[in-house]
Formats: sequence, C-alpha cells, structure tokens
Amino acid sequence: MPKPFYITTPIYYVNAKPHIGHAYTTVAADVFARFKKIQGAGVFFSTGTDEHGLKIEKAAEKAGENPKEFVEKIALQFQDLWKKLNIDYTKFIRTTDTKHKEAVQKVLQTLYDSGAIYKGFYEGLYCVGCEQFKMDDELVGGKCPDHNLVPELVKEDAYLLKMTELQKDLVEKIESDVLHIAPVKYKTEILSFLKSEMLKDISISRKNVKWGIALPFDETHTTYVWVDAFLNYLTVLGWTGDKDSIPKEWPADVQFIGKDILRVHATIWPIILMHLGILLPKMIFTHGHILAGGKKMSKTLGNTISIDEMLAKFGTDGTRYLLLSAGTFGEDVDLTMERMTEKYNADLANGLGNLVSRVMKLAEQMKNNKFGMENRGLPEDIVELLNEYKFSEALEYIWKKVSEANKYIDNEKPWELVKNDQEKFEAVMKKLLEDLAVIAELLMPFLPETSDKIKEALQKGKVEPLFQRIKNS
Ligand code: MSP
Repeated sequence: MPKPFYITTPIYYVNAKPHIGHAYTTVAADVFARFKKIQGAGVFFSTGTDEHGLKIEKAAEKAGENPKEFVEKIALQFQDLWKKLNIDYTKFIRTTDTKHKEAVQKVLQTLYDSGAIYKGFYEGLYCVGCEQFKMDDELVGGKCPDHNLVPELVKEDAYLLKMTELQKDLVEKIESDVLHIAPVKYKTEILSFLKSEMLKDISISRKNVKWGIALPFDETHTTYVWVDAFLNYLTVLGWTGDKDSIPKEWPADVQFIGKDILRVHATIWPIILMHLGILLPKMIFTHGHILAGGKKMSKTLGNTISIDEMLAKFGTDGTRYLLLSAGTFGEDVDLTMERMTEKYNADLANGLGNLVSRVMKLAEQMKNNKFGMENRGLPEDIVELLNEYKFSEALEYIWKKVSEANKYIDNEKPWELVKNDQEKFEAVMKKLLEDLAVIAELLMPFLPETSDKIKEALQKGKVEPLFQRIKNS
C-alpha cells in the first residue's frame, strides 16, 4: 500500500478558548486534506491540543481549577469548534494522553542514553506566552513583541539538548529542501538566521514547572513543553517512541504552521529527529497572521475577531470561505467584520447563491431538468493552484466561473428564450447546469456542505436558498 499523505496542524495551547488564528491554520489544512482525498490519495490528517507547561499551569491556577479539569474543558471546546467548522481530521491528539506521555519519556531516555541530552545549567530570558527562551534579537525594547511581556530571568539546573553540533547538517538539509520550508521567503529568513547565529544547546527540562511530563531519568524535572509538543507529530500516528519502529505515515508530507512558530519548528524539531535518526518532515508550510483592521489582534486593543461570532453570522461554509479568501496564504491577511459581511453578501449570497437559485428556477421549465452527476474530477488549473497552497487564488478562479455563469444568464436571457426559442433555451440551460456541476466539484474541498447541496439540487431539480443576505450591523 502506498504511504498515506500525512498532513499536520500545530497542536494548540489550551490556556484559553480557541480563536480565529487556530481556525485559520486548521481550515487551510482541512481544505488541503480534502483536496488530496479527492485526488485519490490516502490521507492522514492530524490535529490536537498542547496541554502542558507553565502557561497552562498559570491559566488553570488563575481560573481556580486543577490543571487536569481545566485542560479537559478547553480541549473539548477545540473539538467542538472543529465540528462546527467541518474539519475532517483523522485523529485528534492530546498531550495528556497516557500513550503520548509514555512515548515522550521513552524518547527522552533514548536521547539521554546516547548523550544527546546532558545535565547542565541554563540561564536565559523566558517568555511564558511563547513558552520559549528568547534571544536578544527576538526582543523589542526588552519585551517579547508577540506577547508584549517582559520575559522572566530563569537560572536553573537543567538538562540540555545538543543543538550546535547539528547546525551545519541542518543548514544543508534546509538549503537542499530535504526539509522544504515554504514559501521561499521563510526559507530565506531561517537560513539567514542559521548562518548568522550559532544555535545554543537548549534546555529541555524545567525544574519549577509541575504541570508536565516527568523526565524518566530525573523526576525532579519536567519536560520542556515544546519537546513534548513536537513529538505529537509522531505519537498521533500511534508511535510508541521506539526509534526503530516508525509508523508508515511518517515522514509528514506537509506541516502547516503560523510564522510565529517557524523558528522552533525549523530548529528544535528537526534536530530532535536528527539525533534519533528519523527522517525529517518533507515540508513546513508557513502562513502569515490574521490582522484585524490592519493591526495585530489583542484583547487590550479590543479588536479581536471572534470565531464564534463569525460562525453565528456566516455559518460553516461562509466562515471557511471568508478565512481562506482573505488573501494569499503565506502573507499576513487583514480582516474586519464589516468587510467580511460585504464579501459574504457579494460573493456568497449574490454571487454563488443567486446563480444556483436562478439556474434551478429556470431549469424547472426544461423538458428534463434532472441532471446526471458523473464524477468530473478537478480541472488541471485548480489542481496546480492547490498543489502550491494558493487557496485564495483557487477561490478566485472558482468565483470567476460563478460570475461568468451569471453573466451568461444575463446575456442569453433564458426567460425570454423559453417563450420564443425552446431549442436554444434547452441548450443554454444544459450549459448552465453543466457549469453548476463543475462549480460544485470545485467547491468540494472548500465548502463541502454547499457543494453537496448543489449536487443534490442538480439531481432533484430544485434547491433551497444557499446563503441569505445579511445586514451589516
Ligand atoms: N502549542 C504551540 C504549537 C505546538 S506545535 C508542536 C502553539 N500553539 S498556539 O495555540 O499558540 O497557536 C498555534 C497556531 O495558531 C500557530 O500556527 C499560530 O501561527 C496560529 N495563530 C495564532 N494567532 C494567529 C493569528 N492572529 N493569525 C493566524 N494564525 C495565528 O503555538
């Protein structure tokens, strides 16, 4: 059996409820997974939650709950959101799962036994928001720019992972695309970082964090949360931590991440694998951030866009559409509720919704308006765009077809033809039904429910309105 195509999302922190950024990565990964399935590939698509570490320990404490109950509740909120967004993942992993924890301990023991992990002392500036020690070049005015926090100085006995000795090898792997970092600007960014800085051996244990996986060789320390988290990409496949028995899905074909977590993914993660002698993921695809009204979203600024509100207003497919049509995947994209409402009305209610209802209404006057839905497959143009992760461009391609079909109706005026040229009327309508069938096929990875509704309409010869216009409030 050929190796399944393996797609991952990051696993998300459960310190707070899921937000639009999490939805963005996950919807994109879902569209890609659906696309690969349509192409006939076996697909394994993983997602999950990152449940240990100081940030979560603190959030639970603040909520006055024990961490176990706290993470349980939030992990469920993630699963619930993925259901609402129609995310068709293969497996959802939680890092508090016993099997994951046991595998992590086994890996740490292997790394310790081989000398890749050694005991030492670590001193550095720790940003709890990032769960990372920060280098000077990552701070702005002494603060972590992502979290607007002054990192805390940590000095403690720690176990360190050897990084420096594998740096040269890592650079070669990235340069030659053995580990392909895309889009190319992120590859350039990582290579210039790796060529200008020497990677320090990193601390992989925390002495004063209780909420984590105990080191098997020293139970007074817990595992650094990023090491615990990275291994999810293998444990989700059922891996037990034995480096000589790697699941058949590995290596990952594409790992989707946001730009804020690129550096760790392009350094610590491959270096762990290199120490273990395990193949690297084939590709890390990095996307930009969602901005709100041109600014970084923040609770302080009060400009966050709520994913729950989007779902309530635009529905599942509306939300999926608005997220992925916001701009080129890889670049930062800017959203406002107001503009999304306009886009919803223009593209979904007026554009697609109107096309489908006009065609189906007119088709009632055909001699035979039942339409055979043979499997058409995806046209080459869109396959190319999707293989390059160009989601917004693929949507533009589809919406060009929608507006061409709407124009065709305006030009041909089938409501007049039906009165004076029955033959031409039938021909025009056949073309329009064919257009709808193609559009339904193209929409499958992006708007699966809508695609099914259009296909059903074509078979039954009638349709309910797909998208209702909404008022901009
Ligand atoms: N737990 C780590 C990942 C471990 S993976 C081994 C983590 N979690 S996170 O909950 O903070 O968020 C992860 C993802 O959400 C990242 O891909 C990040 O880029 C994405 N987003 C968070 N805010 C975002 C935006 N405003 N816009 C788009 N995506 C952003 O990091």
